[in-house]
Amino acid sequence: MKLTLKIWRQNGPEEKGEMVDYQVSDISEDMSFLEMIDVLNEGIIDGSIDDKGNYGPVAFDHDCREGICGMCSMYINGEAHGPGRGVTTCQLHMREFNDGETIYIEPWRSKAFPIVKDLVTDRSSFDRIMQAGGYVSVNTSGNTQDGNAIPIPKENADWAFDAATCIGCGACVASCKNSSAMLFVSAKVTQLSLLPQGDVERNRRVKNMVKQMDEEGFGNCTNTGACEVECPKGISLKNIARMNQEYLKASFTTE
Ligand code: SF4
Ligand code: FES
Repeated sequence: MKLTLKIWRQNGPEEKGEMVDYQVSDISEDMSFLEMIDVLNEGIIDGSIDDKGNYGPVAFDHDCREGICGMCSMYINGEAHGPGRGVTTCQLHMREFNDGETIYIEPWRSKAFPIVKDLVTDRSSFDRIMQAGGYVSVNTSGNTQDGNAIPIPKENADWAFDAATCIGCGACVASCKNSSAMLFVSAKVTQLSLLPQGDVERNRRVKNMVKQMDEEGFGNCTNTGACEVECPKGISLKNIARMNQEYLKASFTTE
């Protein structure tokens, strides 16, 4: 395949950015999207691809390359993680595109995810939300009860498991016109509040995580549902409804 890539290039957070065109060839349809960018970067490094603007290789985030870590954040042809459903950018294959196609590649766009360089954004706002309450305090000394010995209704266990599949990629924020982080935060709140291990801190957890979310500059949810459509893990909007319920109940407590 031969492709034209239009990629957002930006040297640093305070620098001006622009879309830059690149031509790549010999792309196999079996390559992943990130492998295609590897080919581009190798071409820029060895000089076989014109490095317009002297930006050097394209900076992008990745780690596991198998849909687990949530690092590979890219907006591809106007969609978070590109045209595939239920896949991250690293799981997207070039067979989803046509020979001769022009592909637009941009970073996540959100005030709460400032650009570091090119396609790399700073998503530490998610880390700070997790630090505010996305954990359970378990006493691991002494005769701690085996987690598997605690009965949990199947419906709760299934829902908690589904919510726990959120990989914190931020596609929900990037695809929301309000840059809302409600899908992410609600998945984390739901996962912990449905299990007995997370019950002790449930009131302060939801209050603290929502407070931190607001402080980070994420927008409000207006129920457009774009987040659910673009989420690579199929996190359901019903988690947001559940978090609102949790928050309302917690607001009547002094914790
Ligand atoms: S809710 Fe979905 S889109 Fe949002 S961070 Fe989690 S996995 Fe990514
Ligand atoms: S690189 Fe880990 S999810 Fe894509």
